Amino acid sequence: MSVRKCLFPAAGYGTRFLPATKAMPKEMLPIVNTPLIQYGVDEALAAGMNNIAIVTGRGKRALADHFDISYELEHQIRGSSKEASLAGIRRLMENCVFSFTRQMEMKGLGHAILTGETLIGNEPFGVLLADDLCVGKEHDVMTQLVHVYERFGCSVVAVEEVPREETYKYGVIVADEIESGLYEVRDMVEKPKVEEAPSNMAIIGRYLLTPDIFDIIRETPPGLNGEIQITDALKTQASRGRVLALKFSGRRFDCGSVDGFVEATNYFYQRMKERG
Ligand code: UTP
Repeated sequence: MSVRKCLFPAAGYGTRFLPATKAMPKEMLPIVNTPLIQYGVDEALAAGMNNIAIVTGRGKRALADHFDISYELEHQIRGSSKEASLAGIRRLMENCVFSFTRQMEMKGLGHAILTGETLIGNEPFGVLLADDLCVGKEHDVMTQLVHVYERFGCSVVAVEEVPREETYKYGVIVADEIESGLYEVRDMVEKPKVEEAPSNMAIIGRYLLTPDIFDIIRETPPGLNGEIQITDALKTQASRGRVLALKFSGRRFDCGSVDGFVEATNYFYQRMKERG
């Protein structure tokens, strides 16, 4: 079954970016002149997912406005050289369908994904956390996950080796390598203490999930910090069937942190200069 839908959990508070995120969604923070969410939708569309489902929360209206027509603005700049700046977003608006739902209480990423069930239904789907900005080598990371899904037909998560001392920030997997860069997940643990981390293979913000995950999340009790963790649900899915992990080729910037945000800004600024 082809993967047409991509879910964007974007209801989090973005506390690491206060005060910028007090009245503005973290996903609207720009890297150079493009908001994080737009890079994410670009990546989803490149992977063939033109049905974009966004889980928002209070104070996140700018996300819906960004993918809508802005009549006054567009009228104002019509015919001027400034119109070119809107070419990228217009292409996404023309080629994608957007739908939104709200997560009313922030009960964790697993809960946010379950909130999106109404927009996804019974089909495989991508999950893209827009604050992880990824630059793929040959293909975007979401496309790399689709390629694995097409071969194996099961859930796939993107992983990256991180320094041991940073494992406490991530879901960490224990897995057997079944071919170069591709792993079968045996166990996973959400944000382990550094001394207890079972490996340094960290799950990043790209997932391709089969829809049975919704029932599994429903039966998953709150875990770390009282939140419903997607990591716990994936662990159950792995124990009942199969979950794969792909060490993606490319680079990831953690734009939910100030350091990653600045690195991404420098990288994309440089790239823009080179491309002219
Ligand atoms: P984060 O752990 O980055 O949390 O969530 P956050 O609230 O966005 O940011 P900080 O840590 O307070 O700075 C990972 C992703 O899951 C979404 C977030 O929007 C982000 O994309 N999320 C998390 C939800 O949509 N709902 C939740 O209840 C929790």
